[in-house]
Amino acid sequence: MVTINVNGVRREIQAPDDTPLLYVLRNELELSGPQFGCGLSQCGACSVLLDGKEIRSCMTPLALAAGKEVTTLEGLPARWAQHKGLSPAEAGKTLHPIQQAWIEEQTPLCGFCQNGMMIKATELLERVATPSVAEIKEAFTTSGPSAHLCRCGSYTAIIAAVQRAATVMAKGGK
Ligand code: FES
Ligand code: FES
Repeated sequence: MVTINVNGVRREIQAPDDTPLLYVLRNELELSGPQFGCGLSQCGACSVLLDGKEIRSCMTPLALAAGKEVTTLEGLPARWAQHKGLSPAEAGKTLHPIQQAWIEEQTPLCGFCQNGMMIKATELLERVATPSVAEIKEAFTTSGPSAHLCRCGSYTAIIAAVQRAATVMAKGGK
């Protein structure tokens, strides 16, 4: 048995240590944000945050997440609410500014890759408040094990959404 914290909830998982974290999240915990794309750490569709750092959950064994905090797309609103110190009632009605920016910029096309894009954007904006376009491109291309791939080509809208979210987050969510 492995104990992990997922989106603020302690979960005890009855699965072999080497089970890919993605399988646990999707099949056991029924979290449909992280997607199975390549299964080889090559596309970013499966990304989640592990103690605040983006990882590819398709190639991360369950045991590596033991005792750590996993944040999936579903956990982004609560992550932002905690950052802002919102009450539980307010938190339930609040999207993360990154999710809101993605809606306002109409960023997703088919949407398959966008889980990983928003997770990567969260990691970036928690580290760099107002990244330059070069820093945004670096985050999505060379900072991880592979570039985040979008087969629909929504890259321009992704950059615009990151910039929009950065502006909102820098103002504390207003
Ligand atoms: S499914 Fe994990 S990187 Fe592609
Ligand atoms: S929006 Fe379709 S793969 Fe990116």
